[in-house]
Amino acid sequence: MRKKIIAGNWKMNMTPTETKELIAKLKSGCDVKDADVVFVVPSIDVTTAKASLEGSNIKLGTQNFYFEDKGAFTGEISAKMILDAGAEYVIIGHSERRMIFKEDDKMINLKLKKAHEAGLKPILCCGESLELREAGTYKTFIEGQIKSAFDGISDSDAKKTVVAYEPIWAIGTGKTATSEEAEEVCKFIRECLSKIYSNDVSEEIRIQYGGSVNAGNAKELFGMPDIDGGLVGGASLKEDFIKIVNYKE
Ligand code: 13P
Repeated sequence: MRKKIIAGNWKMNMTPTETKELIAKLKSGCDVKDADVVFVVPSIDVTTAKASLEGSNIKLGTQNFYFEDKGAFTGEISAKMILDAGAEYVIIGHSERRMIFKEDDKMINLKLKKAHEAGLKPILCCGESLELREAGTYKTFIEGQIKSAFDGISDSDAKKTVVAYEPIWAIGTGKTATSEEAEEVCKFIRECLSKIYSNDVSEEIRIQYGGSVNAGNAKELFGMPDIDGGLVGGASLKEDFIKIVNYKE
């Protein structure tokens, strides 16, 4: 049985002061035992969030790092830095980074390798545009993203990777994929992983759905056999996140 993982991607929201306030509101309601709950905050907020989360089971993550260890990379931060600051998880390959910051499959693969080497737990995102969805070629595209991201990743590191299926057309649009649409692709991703590794490995990998998850649709989505939780954007900044984390109730 895979343990559910429900992560809130705060994106570029919340100053350190606001981080303290938001965590004070969410902390006790999000502190559950039957799922891993992760607050994925901006890097600048990691230290504050770490102190605010003290005494709870809530895990901490951040949204980006650069794959080099150190050096002349003005403006970047390393895996070791975010780990030392207190983050355990890191998002890699989010569509916003692919599209706005032009991160390509090669860079995403290098980041996945570095995250594992450093001991960070990566949440690897994939997902198609509306154009590919309508053209019907979305599965081929996603298989390509998965193959390239996992190139050279060992069985044991693959098992520690969380995959997030986030169709771009569902992100921030309020247009959630139906639970059947989300399940179809999460199941397909597991089949791709099974082909790269083995059935045993793919059965251990947790696959989330992300894209307009809210308090009203979480239960149905997370109840699907191949959906092991969610990566939540907008709704993770509100008290709604408590309802999402407690979706079974
Ligand atoms: P929304 O939940 O705001 O649609 O964002 C999803 C997302 O991009 C999480 O990474």
